[in-house]
Amino acid sequence: MPSTQVQWNNCTVEVWQGDITTLAVDAIVNAANPWLAGGGGVDGAIHRRGGPVILQECQAIIRQRGNKPLEAGEAVITTGGQLPARYVIHTVGPVYREWTPQQAAERLAACYRNSLALLRQQGLRSIAFPGISTGAYGYPPEEACPIAVRTVREQLLTHNACDRLIFCTFSERDYQLYSLELTRQN
Ligand code: APR
Repeated sequence: MPSTQVQWNNCTVEVWQGDITTLAVDAIVNAANPWLAGGGGVDGAIHRRGGPVILQECQAIIRQRGNKPLEAGEAVITTGGQLPARYVIHTVGPVYREWTPQQAAERLAACYRNSLALLRQQGLRSIAFPGISTGAYGYPPEEACPIAVRTVREQLLTHNACDRLIFCTFSERDYQLYSLELTRQN
C-alpha cells in the first residue's frame, strides 16, 4: 500500500500500517502504563519482541524515581533489547474517561512533545509513534489523531527534531484517518 508522506522542516512524515515492533528506526514509542510494568496492546508486543532487558531497564527507571509512577504525558527512554529499533521511548497516555476533554488533549499532546524532546536529547533522528491512548485507555481515535498530528507538526517546525517520523497505525480505519489528517494539516 502506498504510504502518505509529507515533509515538515526536512523531516519525512509518513503513515504506515502494521506492527510497530518490526520497524528499524532509532526509536519506537511505547504506549506504557504509569509503572512501566508491561501490559497488553502495543506495550505487550514491544516487551515480547524486545525481551526482558526492556522491563529490567523500566524497573530501574522507576527505582531511580523513588518508586514514583509516571504521570500522564511523561516519557522516558530505554534501549530496544532485541527489537530492530535501537531505543524505546515509553510514554503514558491519559486514560480518556479520567480527564476533561481539554485536560486529556493537553496530556496527549505532552506525550508526543516529551517523546520528541527525548529523541532530540539523545541525538536520535528517526521515530515511530503508535496511536497513544487509543486502545485500552479509550481515547477515541478520531479525537486523538488531529492532536497527534498537530503536536508533531508544531514540534518539527520549531525544532528540526528528526529526519523521519512514522505514524504507525494498526487498523485500516486508523490508517485512513491519519492519512487524511496528514494531508489536511499539510
Ligand atoms: N503495533 C502498532 N500499534 C499497535 C500494536 C502494535 N503491535 N498493538 C496495538 N496497537 C495499537 C492499538 O490498535 C491502538 O490503536 O496501539 C494503539 C494503542 O493501544 P494500547 O496498546 O491499548 O495503548 P493505550 O490505549 O495507550 O493503553 C495503554 O494498555 O497494555 C496496556 O500497559 C499498557 O496499561 C497500558 C495501556
